[in-house]
Amino acid sequence: MVKKAELHVHLEGTAPPALVRKLATANGAAIDPTTFKSDGEFAWRDFAEFLQCYDKAAATILTKDDYRLVTYDYLARCAAEEVIYVEMFSSPDHAAAVRMSYPDHLEGIAAGIEDAHREFGIEGRIIVTCVRHLGAERAESIARRFITHPHPYVVGFGMGGNEAVFNARDFASAFDIVTRAGYRTTSHAGEFAGPESIRDTLKYLPVSRIGHGVRVWEDPELLAEVAERKIPLELCPGSNVATGLFRSRRQHPFRQLMEAGCIVTLNSDDPPFFATSIGHEYDEAARAYSLTEMDLENITRNAVRTAFCSEELKEKLLSEI
Ligand code: ADE
Ligand code: ZN
Repeated sequence: MVKKAELHVHLEGTAPPALVRKLATANGAAIDPTTFKSDGEFAWRDFAEFLQCYDKAAATILTKDDYRLVTYDYLARCAAEEVIYVEMFSSPDHAAAVRMSYPDHLEGIAAGIEDAHREFGIEGRIIVTCVRHLGAERAESIARRFITHPHPYVVGFGMGGNEAVFNARDFASAFDIVTRAGYRTTSHAGEFAGPESIRDTLKYLPVSRIGHGVRVWEDPELLAEVAERKIPLELCPGSNVATGLFRSRRQHPFRQLMEAGCIVTLNSDDPPFFATSIGHEYDEAARAYSLTEMDLENITRNAVRTAFCSEELKEKLLSEI
């Protein structure tokens, strides 16, 4: 089986409905019944509802040990699909919403990474993210905590959330705080906003990668620039189809972006919400974009080479592919 690596997955978005229910029961937390459909799957119809559903599911992850379990559980499933490396998004805003401190949140996730590494050999690292629709002040506050609480597993900073609100420029000061401290960054752009959002992100934020970035496809000049500057794209075809950006995987321009010279990676984003997994993304991409085993291995190499972890770890991972 092809070895895999993932750079774009939101930790709270990895917990399947059964785990969310288990945590809610164990914590005696009331879970909003509108979180699930009658068949037990997460209930949402569009991107706005998805973000709300995500928040409701995240509200059941209450303790440091819950974060350990969510992280361990995800990495265990990844290891079964021959994933060797996962760079996962943590969200201190979601932890704060359940009154968890920044250090407890990180320690819980780190314990899950260590447990999974001990048991399966899989490597995990953390990208701390801010949530765009919560605004620049919250982002700056996370950036400040980020630099005052370094952790060996925290390798970068990022931004998710609703791209339709605010402008990349509003977050320049948050991104500058972490960049000045020597960290690399990534930001969602060109998912629910068009190429202009990618342009603004590249203009105002010191990002090393773009989360999604798929809508670069709509602007040939920008596409040429992204390919020329070798700015890696964290592509998530299954997520984009599930949220209605494309009608099918075949309509997703994954192959065209690859052929235009972009550095592409394959990612699951929020797997149980989108009925996917990183293994499923590789399998479906192979089918929909006629990718050979060599293409898939090169996609894994792209991910490892553009990961934010240490060069020593990258060397070790590359030797495993
Ligand atoms: N948070 C979790 N998943 C997300 C996505 N696909 N886009 C933006 N923010 C998110
Ligand atoms: Zn995402």
